[in-house]
Amino acid sequence: MLDFAIQTARDAGRLLAERFGRSLQISNKSELDLVTESDLASERLIIDRLKSHYPRHAILAEESGASEPADRDKQSEWLWIIDPLDGTTNYAHGYPCYCVSIGLAHNGRLEIGVVYDPMRDEVFSAERGQGASLNGRRIRVSPTPTLKSALLCTGFPYDVRERNEFARHFANFIMNAQGVRRDGAAALDLAYVAAGRFDGFWEEGLKPWDVAAGVLIVEEAGGRVSNYEGAPINIYTPPIVASNGLIHAEMMRVLSA
Ligand code: IPD
Ligand code: CA
Ligand code: CA
Repeated sequence: MLDFAIQTARDAGRLLAERFGRSLQISNKSELDLVTESDLASERLIIDRLKSHYPRHAILAEESGASEPADRDKQSEWLWIIDPLDGTTNYAHGYPCYCVSIGLAHNGRLEIGVVYDPMRDEVFSAERGQGASLNGRRIRVSPTPTLKSALLCTGFPYDVRERNEFARHFANFIMNAQGVRRDGAAALDLAYVAAGRFDGFWEEGLKPWDVAAGVLIVEEAGGRVSNYEGAPINIYTPPIVASNGLIHAEMMRVLSA
């Protein structure tokens, strides 16, 4: 199933890359939240592939929501959690930072995660208990020991204008970390924590398809993922903090200030 997920993410990513930079049909889900024809085409490719290979599995995909398998006698133990294009705003503006995210849970526990960046041809993947990889080579979180030497990343939720505490957290991290970035694709941000490119990431208001694959990849790379109180992450209930583990307590102190 990991090979299937990697191949499917690669094919969906190729579809996105082929259409990247062309003029697109764009509609608004809300004032800041867009959807393009490429989001829909990528999701169609992934769902068609899933339905033909795993017709008994359930699917939760950003643009079409939840679907149970055709055979409704039995609810599936397996759930595929899909973001067909993470980084839609970047994509719609021709900013080359976006990815495909595919997670697989068994009885609610994440088992497989794949994040594919077609711009750099980078596949980040993990299988529970087997470690995390980038293009087949093992990755680990960074050894950065303190917040003041850490490069962090965050994202702005689409309803950021209604979230007063977000600006406070952002300002506090700018004052306490070495640097803070905002790349605009949460699944890729998490994959970068796993690969040691970022030391930590925080965001509120994310959805399960933004984080399902990335959470497993960070954990399998030796990192830590929790909510802002330090409790284990539930992908359905943001917020999320992910780190190399070493700076986790310092990050949570900033978030509680
Ligand atoms: C968004 C991106 C962004 C994050 C938003 C997400 P989308 O996903 O991951 O980085 O800040 O909260 O909704 O809409 O591009 O799939
Ligand atoms: Ca997303
Ligand atoms: Ca998306």
